Amino acid sequence: MEDELKRLRAAALEALAAVNEADQLESFRVEYLGRKGLLSTVMRRLGQVAKEDRPRLGQLANTIKREVEELFQQKKKQLSSTGVAEAVPEDLSLPGRSLPFGKLHPVTQVMEEILGVFEGMGFAVAEGPDVELEHYNFEALNIPKHHPARDMHDTFYVTDSILLRTHTSPMQARIMEKLEPPLRYIAPGKVYRCDSDITHTPMFHQVEGFMVDYKVSFADLKGVLTSFTRRMFKDDLALRFRPSFFPFTEPSAEVDIACVICGGSGCRVCKHTGWLEILGAGLIDPEVLKKVGYDPEIYSGFAFGLGVERVAMLKYGIDDIRLFYENDLRFLAQF
Ligand code: PHE
Repeated sequence: MEDELKRLRAAALEALAAVNEADQLESFRVEYLGRKGLLSTVMRRLGQVAKEDRPRLGQLANTIKREVEELFQQKKKQLSSTGVAEAVPEDLSLPGRSLPFGKLHPVTQVMEEILGVFEGMGFAVAEGPDVELEHYNFEALNIPKHHPARDMHDTFYVTDSILLRTHTSPMQARIMEKLEPPLRYIAPGKVYRCDSDITHTPMFHQVEGFMVDYKVSFADLKGVLTSFTRRMFKDDLALRFRPSFFPFTEPSAEVDIACVICGGSGCRVCKHTGWLEILGAGLIDPEVLKKVGYDPEIYSGFAFGLGVERVAMLKYGIDDIRLFYENDLRFLAQF
């Protein structure tokens, strides 16, 4: 029995040393010091040992029990002072600890805001593939092979006839060939161009929008875009339509807003013109309507495409588009 007691003592000390949480301490107490614990169980057998050994063994058992109990109490104190065992707040009126939390990327936030504005005007949202057929990216949009407009697109080709879409306009053709007018759609997504500097990244985001019905006119386009830019930036924002060219719209325009930085008086951001370009637009070219089987004598439509990073830069006064993709938390945390 003497050996048994000594082994038990060694095991108890070792087990106690390994305890570092309140629950573990309680399990330890039950296992070694509880009424049905190991020490009590051995001590209960003292009655069965030879009479002459009983006082010595009894004393030894008591000493060990006291020692383990004392070490147990010390451990208990130690755990509560390190706060691991029971973290009792000293001042209940202190503000709680706030946990760090993540946020949506500024491009995602602006994208969602743009979609929200158009959805509010009754546009439905559709998404299409980033890896696109050359047909939808170009031919269906009235840009045949060797058309000079292809030069502007700096296309990444996957094979001869498959590419990374250079704009979201292929969604016009994809949706129109499946559905009949009236249509009112926006198509957000990533687009790719082999280009990189402070205003271009090889991947960026566009939102395409278009509407087709009887008698859709340039006035409808102006109305929709005016509502949109005012909601996005501010009421009374001035808008300017400049004649431009896209093979898939006729007439075509580039749309400028009054510089949101200087209010139109001229600054570095608007290159002292007072205007900022934010999107391309126009009435859908009759050739494009014909290719999807619509009769341009019956239907007409408008389309526009806008760069999401561009809108985000103007909205937040960001002067380098590459900041969106460096993922520096000091930048991202500001939105
Ligand atoms: N797809 C054109 C671009 O990326 C923008 C555009 C869309 C122009 C729709 C007119 C109509 O530059």
